[in-house]
Amino acid sequence: MTPAILILNGPNLNMLGTRQPEVYGRETLADIEALCRRHGAGLGLAVDIRQSNHEGQLVDWIQEARGAKAGIILNAGAYTHTSVAILDALLASELPVVEVHLSNIHQREPFRHHSYVSKAARGMICGFGSHGYVLALDAIARIVAPSPHDSEEA
Ligand code: DQA
Repeated sequence: MTPAILILNGPNLNMLGTRQPEVYGRETLADIEALCRRHGAGLGLAVDIRQSNHEGQLVDWIQEARGAKAGIILNAGAYTHTSVAILDALLASELPVVEVHLSNIHQREPFRHHSYVSKAARGMICGFGSHGYVLALDAIARIVAPSPHDSEEA
């Protein structure tokens, strides 16, 4: 069966392309979604991609993923730095989570250095722009469907 991955983007990521392009690049969210679908298909993953500006909506989608998806890739935007509710939903999902940020949050303002999401994440990828989603898909593919060669490569 094809493992299904939920890719969630949080607030203001619908503005990509026009929002601070010097920080977030010129690609739109639609470009990133197309990239994820293409790369996910190549890895044999079914990719379900959603974006919301609303914390409760993100919590609802994470709750629904429990038992229905094989893993979650999450860029929670500014909620990364504020949301215990999203952290709790991720912990309750009992799913492998990969955290993504387009920018290198550790190079930026101190309030961006702390992530509530990280406590629930297997790992975090930041600073590589849209390529971070490709790296996150590669990481989650190995977690949800480890190839027989993985242990030899590691
Ligand atoms: C972001 C980093 C966050 O600090 C910011 O609030 C965002 C985007 C990133 O992808 O670099 O909205 O998650």
